[in-house]
Amino acid sequence: MNTEEQKKAAALAALDYIKPGMKVGLGTGSTANHFIAALGEKVKAGLDVLAVPTSRSTRDLATKFGIPLTDLEKHPFLDITVDGADEFNEKFELVKGGGGALLLEKIVATSSRYMVVIADESKKVSTLGRFPLAVEVIPFGVRATAWKIERAMKICGVSGSIDLRRKEGKPFKTDSGNAILDLGLGSIPHPARLSELIKSIPGVVETGIFVDICGIILMGTKDGVKTFRKA
Ligand code: 5RP
Repeated sequence: MNTEEQKKAAALAALDYIKPGMKVGLGTGSTANHFIAALGEKVKAGLDVLAVPTSRSTRDLATKFGIPLTDLEKHPFLDITVDGADEFNEKFELVKGGGGALLLEKIVATSSRYMVVIADESKKVSTLGRFPLAVEVIPFGVRATAWKIERAMKICGVSGSIDLRRKEGKPFKTDSGNAILDLGLGSIPHPARLSELIKSIPGVVETGIFVDICGIILMGTKDGVKTFRKA
């Protein structure tokens, strides 16, 4: 299977975890999109679920596929969230935020009993950090927030670039109206510590490091889908 087929296979395997009556968090990104399409087919065939999207793009896609939507105001406790990841390691630690939806993704995932990650095999790494780490920040004082992040990086023994994410020549805006700083670290030996330190900086809203949130990973491989379950 090529990468796209692996993503789709992982997404289809996630359907096994969806039971009638469940409230489901819907992730963002190309892998999550495969899941949304597949769930839409099940809904068309009569499956009764309610879903909470993690971004405008996911909301639009879920609407297109006829998936009934709700929100965390009406349903603050969800049964399951199915989402992609930019990287994961054997400790079930993730880097997310490549699509800029990390804040809503983290809120929805931590409101769910289970988070199931669906991914192709390129996302499995021995050490997180090859993929740039997204940090969502308030637009006010971005450069000042950036130097404080650099200081936090030093304290954690990591170094690298800090880039303001741009889209079509303009600073990228998240669905919550914030900016994203992408940290090119190469390696993150202590993800939880780095995330906590960065999150203690005024102006930082959230980081793309997910620790102790995901319990099941469905990874598409050349030969089929491999399931990792946290003990
Ligand atoms: C969006 C995310 C995505 O889950 C992550 O970027 C993976 O995307 P894709 O499935 O397209 O590889 O965190 O904020």
